Amino acid sequence: MPDDTVELEARLEEAESFEPPESFVAQANVADEEIYEEFEENWPECWERAGDLLDWKEDYDTVLDDGNAPFYEWFTGGSLNASANCLDRHLDDRGDEPAIEWIGELGDTRTYTYSDLHREVNEFSAALREQGVEEDDVVTLYMPMVPELPIAMLACARIGAPHSVVFAGFSADALATRMNSADSEHLVTCDGYYRRGDPLQHKEKADEGLGGVDHDVESVIVVNRLGDEYDHPMENGELDYDELISEHEGAEVEPVTRDAEDMLFLMYTSGTTGQPKGVKHTTAGYLSYAAWTSHAVLDIKPEDTYWCSADIGWITGHSYIVYGPLALGTTSVMYEGTPDYPDKDRLWEIVEEYEVDQLYTAPTAIRAFMKWGSEYPERHDLSSLRLLGTVGEPINPRAWKWYYKHIGNEDCPIVDTWWQTETGGMMVTTLPGIGTMKPGSAGPPLPGIDAKVVDTKGEEVGAGRAGYLTVNKPWPGMLRTLYNNDERFISEYWAEYSDTESDDPADWVYFPEDGAKLDEDGYITVLGRVDDVLNVSGHRLGTMEIESAIVGVEGVAEAAVVGGHHDVKGEAVYAYVITEEGYDGGDDLHERIVAGVEDAIGPIARPEEIVFTPELPKTRSGKIMRRLLEDIANEEELGDTSTLRNPEVVEDIQKKVQE
Ligand code: WT7
Repeated sequence: MPDDTVELEARLEEAESFEPPESFVAQANVADEEIYEEFEENWPECWERAGDLLDWKEDYDTVLDDGNAPFYEWFTGGSLNASANCLDRHLDDRGDEPAIEWIGELGDTRTYTYSDLHREVNEFSAALREQGVEEDDVVTLYMPMVPELPIAMLACARIGAPHSVVFAGFSADALATRMNSADSEHLVTCDGYYRRGDPLQHKEKADEGLGGVDHDVESVIVVNRLGDEYDHPMENGELDYDELISEHEGAEVEPVTRDAEDMLFLMYTSGTTGQPKGVKHTTAGYLSYAAWTSHAVLDIKPEDTYWCSADIGWITGHSYIVYGPLALGTTSVMYEGTPDYPDKDRLWEIVEEYEVDQLYTAPTAIRAFMKWGSEYPERHDLSSLRLLGTVGEPINPRAWKWYYKHIGNEDCPIVDTWWQTETGGMMVTTLPGIGTMKPGSAGPPLPGIDAKVVDTKGEEVGAGRAGYLTVNKPWPGMLRTLYNNDERFISEYWAEYSDTESDDPADWVYFPEDGAKLDEDGYITVLGRVDDVLNVSGHRLGTMEIESAIVGVEGVAEAAVVGGHHDVKGEAVYAYVITEEGYDGGDDLHERIVAGVEDAIGPIARPEEIVFTPELPKTRSGKIMRRLLEDIANEEELGDTSTLRNPEVVEDIQKKVQE
């Protein structure tokens, strides 16, 4: 290495903070640090700034109605349509500009201008209506990263039918559970998609899922992605997407006027129990918050080409591939495939070719890029990049610095954005045109967001101490409830730190179930979940869901699932399993457990390690000592085992993991 490179490496390694480049600050959407004060002083009216980013059919009367905490309502009295905000209002200025640049894994591409997208969304809205979809009917979209997914989402929004997108990698069972929970009678799905160049069927999985739906299904629409490569079954009155579109060619569907608080969509996410939670987001609060954070944090301008590499099947894709960017009228890139197909420079090839301005990705991806080496990004001109972002899990300073140097060429601010499915949009991050960046620490709460780090009693901890993250005041993008389950909404998110008897909104505190640390500048380092939820490659998985899948396998008596450290995935699934009499923990059972988990949830939940053990470490009261199992998975020194009923099993399990 030449001397100056060595020096540079050393400087980067030591640096604990970075300032945004002046050239960035000069053009940033938000660059005045008074915004923090302004939002604090004007709270909650400060949120008009978000509301102003939308076109309203009817203006709202009240920014925040907190009369029934924690069932907050935002922008009440207002009405609007999300699809009109993402499409119609851009037609005059941006009609011929690309709204979505879609890139297929095989290299095929499609460009949808705002006019194209508007046209197809109208046609599909008409088709959905014809299928009997009415306002407030939940439409399930079980689709991979094809353009028809955002089209279907916007069509649902246009006719006021909330969508519930189920990640295509989820299993048939997961689809059925979600359709049942939402009483959803309509499904839009896909024949299949490509993974590493091979066609992957999806329709049979959807059919299997439909078999588990406990009510009548009115319509099933199938997008044909694989053409002749896969002759998918269509035996039960399913409709072909393309045929429907041509039947409704040129149709115009007036966007339905929705009240601010009407549901825009449901998104299921994992929690502590085995049952996924149906997070409810509303039209005005969610959309304004997605737009505002896209503007302030991602610095999106209409003329940008912006790329979020997440899957639309997760909240990141909802807020930051579809709703936020399109509300702002920008060009949003959508990539179907994997980052290492056909080669490990695929992302960088796309950045170069499309002259991407902002890239928003996940730490797990960055760790993979690091492992593959800097020669891949070096093959490409990445100078179009102006801003980088990460989301989904804590990013370690080494990965942060690698991203900063090898992708951003030390010219791009990085926003490390902490948020959740439930928050609708970003909550804790630096503002790229203002804040000093500290690798590994997400940053201060966004203006108007009242996040704190507290101890178990709810008292704020001092600088340098770890505690629990809480959010004290409501914000427009927050979930409104869990679908059909207000009680669980309160017990999951509020009960821990609120006085649940109180009518005073100041007594209601939102608990995201993350641990965090505060520094002397008020920066928050998020440490990870404190509930029984794992974060595998930035995807949230409930240990209980995985355990119940494993226990459902013939020959399994008991199972405990914990997270073990993984260099790329962050966390990996470790399963400790006790077999039933007459079964042994051989290859056969191992395979059946893996299949059982894939069937119940999907391949993302596949155990990295399955350890068969005659017993699980339990306390005298019979509770499984998960923390101990975690220590074993991470090959860490074990904590106190003296409270165990059966300390002798620990050594035995340890040996098996180390084998
Ligand atoms: C959980 C939420 C937000 C969209 C993607 C995941 C973890 C998220 C960060 C970050 C540290 C993070 C938290 C959170 N998380 N972003 N920047 N730093 N941790 O959404 O599936 O709802 O998961 O992801 O643990 O609670 P999700």
